Amino acid sequence: MRRFPFVQRLRGVCSFMLFCGFLLKNNLFVAPMAGVTDRPFRQLCKRLGAGLAVSEMVTSNSLLYGSAKTRRRAEHSGEVEPIAVQIAGADPAMLAEAARYNVANGAQIIDINMGCPAKKVCHVMAGSALMKDESLVARILETVVAAIPETPVTLKLRTGWDACHKNAPGIARIAEESGIRAVAIHGRTRAEQYRGHAEYDTIAQVKSERSIPVIANGDIDSPEKARFVLDYTQADGLMIGRAAQGRPWLFREIAHFLATGQKRSPPTVAEILLLLMEHVQELRAFYGEATGVFIARKHIAWYTRGLPGSAAFRQRMNTLPDAAAQEAEIRRFFETLAARSEHLEYTAETAEAANARLGDEEALAA
Ligand SMILES: Cc1cc2nc3c(=O)[nH]c(=O)nc-3n(C[C@H](O)[C@H](O)[C@H](O)COP(=O)(O)O)c2cc1C
Repeated sequence: MRRFPFVQRLRGVCSFMLFCGFLLKNNLFVAPMAGVTDRPFRQLCKRLGAGLAVSEMVTSNSLLYGSAKTRRRAEHSGEVEPIAVQIAGADPAMLAEAARYNVANGAQIIDINMGCPAKKVCHVMAGSALMKDESLVARILETVVAAIPETPVTLKLRTGWDACHKNAPGIARIAEESGIRAVAIHGRTRAEQYRGHAEYDTIAQVKSERSIPVIANGDIDSPEKARFVLDYTQADGLMIGRAAQGRPWLFREIAHFLATGQKRSPPTVAEILLLLMEHVQELRAFYGEATGVFIARKHIAWYTRGLPGSAAFRQRMNTLPDAAAQEAEIRRFFETLAARSEHLEYTAETAEAANARLGDEEALAA
């Protein structure tokens, strides 16, 4: 991978982006999502248009380095470069060690998590809780940057702690002064968790004040919304999380719209069936047969959310014991849809689907 000495996006000329010294095919980032953005999902998103995918966070607790979960999260073989790994924690020395560990295991960009509101992260003063203590933030950022001088370090944060403490502009200044190479900002405070709507004014303010790249995040779920957020914030890139769950092709749809102003035709039912089958097979190859079948269930639920008959399908899916039964049921469901129309026809979000989505978010915050 060619490295560049400075960061610059070739706005309006082509969709490439120079980010942290790496040439990305565009400025669309897959948001780190614990339990979601594993290697199979990251690879799929990159293949379907994402310029960069940040891995799920890896703990900075070295006692856990040997655990299967941490080892799996640090596994990048075959992944399209650059490899970006997120670390989380509150102790500068432990975070520095985690950064070195991940660089030794193939990470080419280290991202520090100050965006996650999960209680299990915040209770130990990590994730978005760190934003409360700006001097600790400075110590963490300086220590991690110094620990891996050859590797770019980025920061993911929220707009602040709560509505009265929207200190993302101050944290972004500290980040730039500490040698952080880019910031991604989720347009909500920690107190808002995932409620309400993301706001983009704070992101626009940070972009206007800083010279490092700013990536806008929160509620970007369509090509039109992507265009709006880019224009409104003047951000250098966009980060997309929940909307890509079960819809990894969203990246190519957004990339096409941003580049041409035209909507790309959506994937056919037949193509989605192929992608989903490939995804569940990759999950089994990555996690092993039994865990792969189990983890596939939530992805299958996301791919089918809002489709006619999907509630009953998901219920059946959760009772199927093995890969063969799972694949046969997926095929049957999508073949029924393909017989009705070439493209998926979503029903309005049902109360059941909305509850399931909220459940995901609450589980995350627990
Ligand atoms: C299931 C789930 C897991 C998440 N895990 C992380 C994480 O590990 N690190 C992090 O910085 N943010 C995490 N986030 C937050 C997302 O990266 C992102 O900031 C947030 O979902 C807003 O973007 P969106 O509206 O595009 O989903 C998580 C979000 C979800 C829904």
